[in-house]
Amino acid sequence: MNSTLLPDTYAPEDLCFATIAASLTEKGYCILPDALPSQLAFELAAHAQNLSDEQYFNAGIGRANQHMTNRFVRGDEVCWIEGQSEIGRQWLEWTERLRVYLNRHLFLGLFSFESHFAHYPPGTFYKTHLDAFKGQSNRILSVVTYLNHQWMPDEGGEMVIYVGDDNVKVTPALGTLAIFLSEEFPHEVLPTHRDRYSIAGWFRLNTSIGDQIDPPQ
Ligand code: OGA
Ligand code: MN
Repeated sequence: MNSTLLPDTYAPEDLCFATIAASLTEKGYCILPDALPSQLAFELAAHAQNLSDEQYFNAGIGRANQHMTNRFVRGDEVCWIEGQSEIGRQWLEWTERLRVYLNRHLFLGLFSFESHFAHYPPGTFYKTHLDAFKGQSNRILSVVTYLNHQWMPDEGGEMVIYVGDDNVKVTPALGTLAIFLSEEFPHEVLPTHRDRYSIAGWFRLNTSIGDQIDPPQ
């Protein structure tokens, strides 16, 4: 028997992307458990956990040349994903398909994507911040996905997104995706009691002027 709602040709990925597009249109953000294909989530988690200490760098705050590290603001260490690993390339292919889908359906004009693995050791957090300030950044959409098996309620480490006077708590469970307009939603990572792995990324506009290439290649 055939469902009248969903044509046979609906791939699970399109369904996932459609859910994201609808939620972004309605609310400006989307929290979606089990969004990543399970094999992709599983292998990204293994990769993030197996990266060596030398491959993770203390994360900075502020803009490129005013780079500084402040452990009172954020305690994560990051490793940029630039296609060095097979699983990193698969992640970039998945986000590229999402980018094309969102451009086609929401006309956002998303041009490029940057992302990094993040590791929050026990006791670390990321205080409330915005990922982009109006007119100062080409980051349009923030994308966070979580790489932790069986996260327990007493392990902390939730991301809290502030939506007006309300807030939404996101458990950093394997395969969950959080995506939101970078300039609109302050958010924070509550102190984690366990090693916490995620990927944070940003879809960006192309704001190149003349021969100055931005985003940098
Ligand atoms: C960030 C960020 C949230 C998270 O890296 O800018 O807000 O849950 N990360 O890891
Ligand atoms: Mn952020």
